[in-house]
Amino acid sequence: MLLRVEPRARGRVGIDLDPVDVTTAEGARLLRSFVWADQAARLERLDRAIAEVRQEPPTLVRGDFVELLPDFLEQRRSDGLTVVFESAALTYVDQEGRKVVRDALASAGRTGALAFVSTGQPSRAGVEAYGLHVTLWPGGEREEVAVLDYHAAWLDWIGG
Ligand SMILES: C[S@@+](CC[C@H](N)C(=O)[O-])C[C@H]1O[C@@H](n2cnc3c(N)ncnc32)[C@H](O)[C@@H]1O
Repeated sequence: MLLRVEPRARGRVGIDLDPVDVTTAEGARLLRSFVWADQAARLERLDRAIAEVRQEPPTLVRGDFVELLPDFLEQRRSDGLTVVFESAALTYVDQEGRKVVRDALASAGRTGALAFVSTGQPSRAGVEAYGLHVTLWPGGEREEVAVLDYHAAWLDWIGG
């Protein structure tokens, strides 16, 4: 069923304290410079990701998502699914900030369809990888849907 539905994104916004705009040559070069030069597979994956982003770039916002997310959620369109995605970012936020994010999501989930997709601790003990968690509203149920390599070299769907 999932693969028969082709979702259409009506807009994308990326919030970061210091966003890198990979639609520019300088931005792409900067991001590539963060990868060790002998990691050819990572560089190749990054190049594919950059090419993908360049086809339909998000609006980049410089700022703290703990401060900005509540307003973004409040002002979102109500006639579709809003997906909030974070990978390896919430981990840099303190407990207080995480509560602000959790509360903003729960509050927005009461007024419309919402999904929160996030990387975190995998539930399987001893796995050196991220768990990929999805929380869906209405309901707010959280499910671990996949386990993935820290740099996305592989992804194993759970139960898939
Ligand atoms: C380890 S990088 C992960 C980048 C990317 N999400 C990924 O998975 O490759 C962490 C990113 O989170 C951003 N970040 C951390 N705390 C933030 C905050 N409170 N608001 C906005 N961005 C934040 C940093 O600027 C950095 O770009």
